[in-house]
Parts: sequence; structure tokens; C-alpha cells
Amino acid sequence: MIDSLPVFLEKNYQLSGTLTPLVGELDLNFRLRTSTGEEYILKIAHFGENQQQLEMQNAIMTYLSDRVSTYQLPRVISAGNGQHILKITDDQNRERLLRLLTWVPGELLANTRPHSSALLESTGHLTGTITKALSDFQHPGAQRKLRWDLAQADWLQAYSKELKQPKIVQPFLNDFIKTIKPQIGRLSQQVIHNDANDYNILIDPSQQTASGLIDFGDAVHTLRIADLAILIAYAIMKKPDVLAAAAEVTRGFHQACPLLPEEIKILYTLVGLRLTTTVTVAALNRKESPDHAYHFISEAPAWKALEKWAALPENIVHYTLRGATGLPPCPQRIYFDQWLTNNKDQLAPMFEVNFSETPFLKLNLQVDSPELGNNHDFGTIEKFAETIQRMLAEASVTYGLGGYGEVRPFYSTDAYRVMGNAGPHWRTVHLGVDVWAPADTEVYAPLDGTVFSVKNNAGERDYGPTIILEHKISDQLTFYTLYGHLSLSATEKLEKGDSIKKGTLLTRIGPPPENGNWPPHLHFQILLDMLEGAGDFPGVAFPSEQEIWKHICPDPGVFITKKNILPRGFPTVETLLKDRKKNLGANLCLSYAEPIAMVRGHKQYLYDQEGRRYLDTCNNVPHVGHQHPRVVRVAQRQTALLNTNTRYLYPQLTEYAAALTAKFPDPLKVCFLVNSGSEANELALRMARTYTGWQEMLAVEVGYHGNTNAVIDVSAYKFNGKGGVGAPATTHLLPLPDTYRGKHQNKETAGADYAAYAQTIIDQLAKESKVPAGFICESILSCGGQIVLPENYLKKVFKTVRAVGGLCIMDEVQVGFGRVGDHFWGFELQGVVPDIVTLGKPIGNGHPLGAVVTTRKIADAFANGMEYFNTFGGNPVSCAIGREVLAVVEAENLQQNAASVGNYLLEELKRLQQRFPIIGDVRGHGLFLGFELIKNRKTKIPAPEQAAYLANRMRQRAILMSTDGPDHNVIKIKPPMCFTKADAIFLLEQLEIVFQENQMKVEN
Ligand SMILES: Cc1ncc(COP(=O)(O)O)c(C=O)c1O
Repeated sequence: MIDSLPVFLEKNYQLSGTLTPLVGELDLNFRLRTSTGEEYILKIAHFGENQQQLEMQNAIMTYLSDRVSTYQLPRVISAGNGQHILKITDDQNRERLLRLLTWVPGELLANTRPHSSALLESTGHLTGTITKALSDFQHPGAQRKLRWDLAQADWLQAYSKELKQPKIVQPFLNDFIKTIKPQIGRLSQQVIHNDANDYNILIDPSQQTASGLIDFGDAVHTLRIADLAILIAYAIMKKPDVLAAAAEVTRGFHQACPLLPEEIKILYTLVGLRLTTTVTVAALNRKESPDHAYHFISEAPAWKALEKWAALPENIVHYTLRGATGLPPCPQRIYFDQWLTNNKDQLAPMFEVNFSETPFLKLNLQVDSPELGNNHDFGTIEKFAETIQRMLAEASVTYGLGGYGEVRPFYSTDAYRVMGNAGPHWRTVHLGVDVWAPADTEVYAPLDGTVFSVKNNAGERDYGPTIILEHKISDQLTFYTLYGHLSLSATEKLEKGDSIKKGTLLTRIGPPPENGNWPPHLHFQILLDMLEGAGDFPGVAFPSEQEIWKHICPDPGVFITKKNILPRGFPTVETLLKDRKKNLGANLCLSYAEPIAMVRGHKQYLYDQEGRRYLDTCNNVPHVGHQHPRVVRVAQRQTALLNTNTRYLYPQLTEYAAALTAKFPDPLKVCFLVNSGSEANELALRMARTYTGWQEMLAVEVGYHGNTNAVIDVSAYKFNGKGGVGAPATTHLLPLPDTYRGKHQNKETAGADYAAYAQTIIDQLAKESKVPAGFICESILSCGGQIVLPENYLKKVFKTVRAVGGLCIMDEVQVGFGRVGDHFWGFELQGVVPDIVTLGKPIGNGHPLGAVVTTRKIADAFANGMEYFNTFGGNPVSCAIGREVLAVVEAENLQQNAASVGNYLLEELKRLQQRFPIIGDVRGHGLFLGFELIKNRKTKIPAPEQAAYLANRMRQRAILMSTDGPDHNVIKIKPPMCFTKADAIFLLEQLEIVFQENQMKVEN
């Protein structure tokens, strides 16, 4: 039959072209591309297909083509005889029905990565648009028996026991019979597409949004909400957070096809039913034709999605999906708010002290709280207790209150990391109020209730003894109050069902360790729904879900103080951006398309306003870790004691100078302290010029040495970059010694080849009777794109420059202090000893500090009578900090860590390079690494758009990376030196996810 198709097409449709077979479940499908570039799909139905069904499909497509213009849908092509369905005889001499439809362009959703929130929402909008457009469509063929029709799901019951996990599917089947079937007649019904799966949804690759829908083969007259349920069932497959994905598609669907509350209510069960149908049909198909993988392609992901979906409490799905449509998430809330307004004055006091009179501290435990301070001060339970005590003591109060809606940094650790659809996230938003009070403080019942549960949630940092009371207020309103971190002896006597009278002693605040080992406090929370739980309840929520959870758990502040005790908010990103534009220069750049408002740093991590923890792979300034407690303490103490200048004697200066110079080889034994890397290079240039009496400098292409005048003049990265005016007459550039894409790529000879340019320049200068004062170069070129100098390069350049009396300045601002792993200084990789070394960035771990280290001979020549005075350079605070940084590098073996973690990362990145052709080169030393993105391995054309995409995607997945290099296609990795192997593994996993995304595909 296939051989006869070209003739058939020519004869009946006057079309000819290339036919490509497509994978299909039952039918034979071909893609037809004509010589003029038009595209069609030729569909030959399986033998025995009901013609009325095909007529119905055709009628739907024709109906929609008049009504839907925003999305692409297949259109039916008439044959020359005006017919839409033709007959063709197959190889077994059977008659098959044939149709020709237009080809719908786009990428299948199944092949699209990532499934961003916007993309998922757009699939909802697409599906909702089709559902809505079909609302009045009628066709006799749509009233049919179909096992994929969710309203006909009874048949699944017979097979449920044979399934892999009957326990998971049974509740959905039971709920269908019990609650859905009886109300089917009352729910909206119409003809629907009935199969919005990821092989039927098309994506516009340029917009990354849904653009079209195909395959009306499962269309049926049924519940209209089933269209969304089916879309959800597929949208949640392979997603770590199924609920978030369901909410995204629901939001989009509702925009196009407004949903009714009763429809949203049954979505949980319908999604479960659809997944159950998928696994049941797959199991049956497997039995029938085990070799036909396409028949059970969705089976494994459907089971995984089912497990996750079934594990969710039905009501959290209900509330979340209501929220996605703009309805108040929790329907009881309105009744609770009314009740509270009318009854707040009747609530009994929960404590003996009256917080309208007794002073208390509004305890600020928010992620940006300056009083809470360094992570080190709450990282252990003992430290946390000390901090709470200090905060209360400083305010001279016994009681502290607060916490509802507060974004807290306590749980943003690896142990509490949860993978969401957009990378890791943490539950940081606190849902109760905490009352910090002495252990044994009595707690009274604020209103009548019944004990719903008493449970000791034993374990460090858990709730400890916990009581939940049930309050039945009316037919519409039952709510619960939760009391956590209680005294064991004061809760033991209570039992489920005990009735508790308002104003009676309920319990007491527990002491550590029995209260979860916290400093004594009551966690008090209101719950409008127990969400199928007992004894325990989430006390914190993900920021992305906080609106839902805060709706279920209203602010309990009124119960305690008659007022709400809400945390101070944060300035929004928009406000910060606006104020920045208003008050600061426009050439101050921000990282990432979505800038981040950072509020806290700790080790290799930064935290934003939502308490989201970002792994920092690109900031080498907090060398020993962001906000290292030892450095912080030294800074605080010395600031409190003395800060002055070098016109006095103080040991902080001399001790630091000795400690710093001890790290250098002879004869580099004299240091000058400054405030930044730029200032260090500025001083180094002045020294070289003073020492030699000459002005000319040799520098390297794309080198960067700082932001002041003299150093911009030797920074080709700036003067040859945007807004630059080219090299000044005194600067002479050597080419970037890049062995991957540069002029000389033979690694054996590149060092000598690139160094030879120094001689050429010097010869040229000699013709003008000029001699260079020196040569300045970074030990590994950072802005140049993490360019590792080729072997022998420095040895040869130094020799050439020194031969005419010039000095060799190595800029270690980026790479110094053990970062390169095998050595303490980057220049040591080349086996040379420079004349001057400049230091900055990591030297003060974020404190403004820099240094120039040189020889006694050069330092003496520089002391030509002009005083060297620097108001801040060498002040005792900076010196104390610099010294502590050196001590921590040593105490924590950070150089060794850089070597071992760096080597591991380098090797693993090379492994990724083998899998992903976009990675052209991987290079670096220790924890100073880079990889270069290219469009084609042969041409090595840089891929800056992809590099920017990668950095932005990694930022979305909570990893900070940055791009650099003359073509902005190099990703730099230079994290704080406490970066661990676990961090490296996490980074690699996340990179692998992003490398698989559509935007990262390049030619081989
Ligand atoms: C190699 C190098 N040298 C010097 C500087 C200038 O340092 P600072 O910004 O502290 O003045 C930088 C800054 O990025 C640098 O990368």
C-alpha cells in the first residue's frame, strides 16, 4: 500500500512530495512534504475504524477553524472529488479510510525542555481555548463508548486489583463511584478534545509557549472539566512538584475557559482517574503486545505521577487549584474571618500576663534581621538559644512575640532542600505565632474545644509535645488550634476527645530538650483544615505556596495580643530597581534578567528575600566564605577598639605585613596596603614607572586591572570594550594567549609563540628610543575568559622584558590566596617570581583591602622623597581582617580543598563536555575554572546567547554563575573556597538539566 501512496495522492489530491512515516498507536500516519514546501499529514485509519468517528473529527476541525485563530489546529483537505475521507486498499486487501490534514508546525511539548511555568500555563490556555470553542459543538459520533472517557471510568474497577499498586488507585475509583458519578448530570458537559497529552500539544520554539493542538481521535461528549484533568495528568508527569505544575495549567485553562467551583472540586479525583486509565491501558497493552513500546510509553511516568498525586491531601489540591483560578483558596476562610470579627473580644486570654500592658519584644527572626545576625549564631540549637536570650536581654524583656508570615533562614540547609520544578526551594515562611516565654509558662484555652490530637513529635528541632484542639463553630466552620513545643508532663494527661473549656489551663510551655530542644516558646497556629493529618501540621510553607497556606492558617496574633504582629516587609525588587535608577549611575550593572535582592550570606551561599539559598559559584571575594564568623568577629572587635592610620604605630599593621609577605618567595618581602585591586595596580604602575623612569607598559589583550584612570589605560578589556577609546600611546598589547580559539593553538609551542610578541613590541619601541617600564598580566586571565597561560609563557616574557630593564607585575587580584589549588599564588603555576604582585578581592573576604608586594630594592627606589600616605590603606581594622583571612585559609585547609574539589569539578565538566557538544573547552586550576560555549565544535563560533541563557537558567535553579571572555561565551567558576564536593555534584546535576534544554542544542 505504501508504494502506491504517491500515485494515490497525485490522483486524488494533485499533490506529490516526500512521505515520511510517523510513529502511531494504531493508525498509519505519514508526513507529506511537497516540492513547494507545503506540509500535510496523511492519516490511514486502522482497519475497522468507524467512519462516523472520522467524520466527527473532521467536523470538529472544520468547526474550530472558524472559531480559533490564536492557535494552530489541523485543517481537513478535500480530495479532488470534494470528499474528506477516501478509501484505500491495504496489503491484506482490506479497505482503509484515508484523510489528508494540514501539518501543524511546532515542537512537541514532549520534546520541549524546560517546562517553565509560563509554558505550562500556556498549555492550559491552549486547551481551555479549544474546550471553550467546542462548548456548542454537536455531533452524533461524540456520544460513544470510550474507555478514555473519564465519565465512563467504571470499567477500571475490574482491573484495579491486577495493577502494580492497587492501593494507590483504589481511592480514586471509590471517589468516582461515590461522589462524581451521582453528580455527573449536574456538571457541564460538551464535546471535548479529551487527549491534551504532551505528544498532541505543539510549542512555538521561538516563544516557548503553546501554539497548537492536534489529534481529535479521542474526542467525546463528556464532562468538560475532563479536558483540564487530562492536561494536568500529563503536565505533572516527570515533574518534581506535581501540585505546582497542576496549578500552572489550571491558571491558564481558567483564563480561556472559566471554571466553576464544583468542577475544581473534582479535579483531584479526575486527574487520579486519568492516570489510572493510563496505567491500566498500558498494563493491558503490555499483555497483548509486549514488544510495542509506544503502547505503554507513559506507563512509568504515569505511575510516578500517580504516587505523588495520591500522596497529596485532596483538599490541598482543591485549595491550590481554587487559588490558581483566583477564588479564595480555602472556602471556610470567609466564615472564620466573620466569626473572628464578631468574637475576638470574647476570646479568653491565653497567658496570665496581659500583652497590652506587659512589655514584649517583637522578635525579628526574619532572614534579613540584623539582630538575628550571622548564620553561625543560630546554626546550632545552642547558638540559637543564646541568640534568643541575647535579643530578649538587649530589649530588657522576658517575652518575645512574632513570627506569622516571617521569612526565616533556619531551614535553608541541604537537609531541608526540596526539589521544585524550578530547582531547589525551602519552606521558609512561618505560619504560626511564637510566644517566647520561660519554660512552664501556663497556656490557657482561648475558646471551647475538643482535643483532636495529642502527640509528642519528638526529635531535635521538631514540635515536641503538641496539642491540637478542634473547635466546631457552625455547620460551615470547624477550625483547629495547634500548640507546639509544650511540656511533656503538662500534655500527658490529655486525651483525644477531652473537652476543653475556654479560659481553663490547657498546658505549659516546655523546656528543652523535650520541646524539640528549642529555647522555650509556644508555637501557636490556627488551621482551617487538618488536611487529613493529626498530631502534626506544617508550620512553615514554601514562599511560592504561602498565599494558599496563609489562607488555611490565618494570623493567630489576635488570639494573643488582640492585634496582628506582622513582620516588617521587604522592599520589592521593583522598588529597589526604581530607587537605584533614581540615585545611582546608569552604568552600574545588575546580574541576571531577573535581578535578585540578596539579604544574607553564609559560607558558599547567598539568600534572597524569600530565604531562597543560592549556591554562589562565581564570587571569589568572600574567599573563606560569605560572612565567615571568624572574620566577622575580628572586624567587629577591632572596629570597636581602634581604627586609625599608618602615621601611628600599631601591631595589627606590622603583624599583618609579616604574615602576608611570609607567603611570598624571596625577594618579594615588602608590602604596601591599599583599599582595592584597582588601587594596588595603580600603585604598582607608579612604582614601575618611578623605578625605571619609563612610561611604556606591555599588557595583554582582554586583560583587566581595575577601574581607575591609569589601570583602565592598561586594561584592554575596558579600553577596547564598549565605551572604550582604544589603547593609549603608552600601552602595547600582547595577544590573548588563548590556546583554544586564539592565534596559536598548539599547546606545546603556544607559550613561546605568544611570548614572542613581547620582543616584537620591544623592538618596535626601541626604534622610537623607548623602553617599557614593565609588563602587567593576570596569572590566569579572568575577564579574558579564564585563560590559563600556556606553559613557559611567563618565563619567556619575563626574560624579554627584564632584558631591557622592565619590571614584571603579576595581578593576583582574582586568583591569589590558594585558589589555584596546587600553589598559593597563581604565578607559581608558571614557575616564575615577579617583581611586583598586586592583591585585592579575596584578601579581605569582602572588606575593602588590597596590597602591593614587591622587593626591597624596588620599594626603596619608590621611596624617592614623596610621602606615601593612604588614609585607609593599612588601617588596623583592615589589617586585622586580612590577617584573619590568612589564618582561616590555613586553619580550614582551603587551598587543599580548592585542589581536590577543583580537580573533581574539572574532570566532571570534561565528562559533560563529551556529552554536550555546546561545551567547546573546559579549563582552569583549582577553584578557578571556566568552560566555553560554542555553536559548532569545528568552527568554534562562540555561543554568547546560550551562555547568557545558561547563567539565567542556573540562577532560576538557585545557582549563581557568570559569563565572561571577549565574546561573553565563557562561564566562570570561582566560588568561595569552602565550596564542597557535594556543592560540585549539585552544580553538575543542575548544569546537566539545563544542558538538555532546547536552547542549548547546537550542531555537532
Ligand atoms: C584581575 C583584576 N585586577 C584588578 C581588579 C580591580 O579590583 P577592584 O575592583 O577591587 O578595584 C579586578 C576586578 O575585577 C580584577 O579582576
